[in-house]
Amino acid sequence: MWTVGDVLIPNRVVLAPMAGVTNIAFRRIVKRFGAGLIYTEMVSDQGILMQNKRTLAMLTIDPEERPVALQLFGGDAETLARAAAYVEAYTDADIIDINLGCPAPKINKLDAGAKWLLSPERVYDLYRTVSTAVHRPVTAKIRLGWDDDHLYYVELAQAIAEGGGAAIAVHGRTRAQMYEGRADWEAIARVKAAAAPYGVPVIGNGDVTSPEAARRMLEETGVDAVMIGRAALGNPWIIYRTVHHLRTGELLPEPTPEEKIDMAFRHLDELVRLKGERVGVREMRKHAAWYLKGLRGAAAVKEAAQRAETAAEMTAILRGYLTADAALVSR
Ligand SMILES: Cc1cc2nc3c(=O)[nH]c(=O)nc-3n(C[C@H](O)[C@H](O)[C@H](O)COP(=O)(O)O)c2cc1C
Repeated sequence: MWTVGDVLIPNRVVLAPMAGVTNIAFRRIVKRFGAGLIYTEMVSDQGILMQNKRTLAMLTIDPEERPVALQLFGGDAETLARAAAYVEAYTDADIIDINLGCPAPKINKLDAGAKWLLSPERVYDLYRTVSTAVHRPVTAKIRLGWDDDHLYYVELAQAIAEGGGAAIAVHGRTRAQMYEGRADWEAIARVKAAAAPYGVPVIGNGDVTSPEAARRMLEETGVDAVMIGRAALGNPWIIYRTVHHLRTGELLPEPTPEEKIDMAFRHLDELVRLKGERVGVREMRKHAAWYLKGLRGAAAVKEAAQRAETAAEMTAILRGYLTADAALVSR
């Protein structure tokens, strides 16, 4: 048990925010696997302030999935503060997180995401402004810096803490690295050390690809919790396996192909309920590929799933994998 502000987090395994992935459909699935804290996709502050319908739809939180951190992005302290006040007034989010790490040019052009990493002073003002505008804890998700010539993560951690930030999640890469190279866990340890005097918890992120890696990150960096992103794609079991490993030292088996396909059915169902059949099935295509990843002889099924238009088609294609696989095994 640890806390972010006054929010109790029951374990040290956190689901990373992933745009286009961690919507309420996937979050419901991951929560069943016992994630301690779950982040939403990033949500535009401007979209909220302009009452954009699609943006507002992203604010729905299922009471079952709490505690939830709702992530905002924006390039201006005042508009972020107004959006945060809206989130506090109208949603069940326990924590309001601000994205200070997104590397996408269209986000950085708005002075948002990783652009903040260039200016710890602006970040201090940001946290002062937003944390005085709301009562709920306001947190940060950062990268190490813009590039190797602009590594201000210690100053950023101090600015966030002094400005009133309640926790820092740090992805151990620079913006220039995107998702390449290895995450720098030593730098993550330095962020933890910088935040420790303020009593602000740090969540380590980057390359936690297994329960053992999670344990190693906790031991090597001293962070309060680990955040898992890509390793949970098509593999929400990693959350439960990690929670269990950290609790007991035991390593539970990987899911079977049948369990994976069953979960894909469930995910499809949730997505169709959330977004309607046309959009839900389209979104499911990438998840189908992730659920099938690493399964023997799945290439053709994976490809067919990319062309599915209806839920019935998608279901038949996925079920086809199991029957084809059974045929292979029995031969
Ligand atoms: C598809 C995808 C979408 C992402 N969207 C966001 C986002 O909306 N906000 C954010 O802070 N990070 C986002 N990230 C970054 C992840 O939260 C995480 O920091 C990164 O993937 C490194 O962790 P990992 O090695 O466990 O994947 C995204 C990553 C991926 C792969």
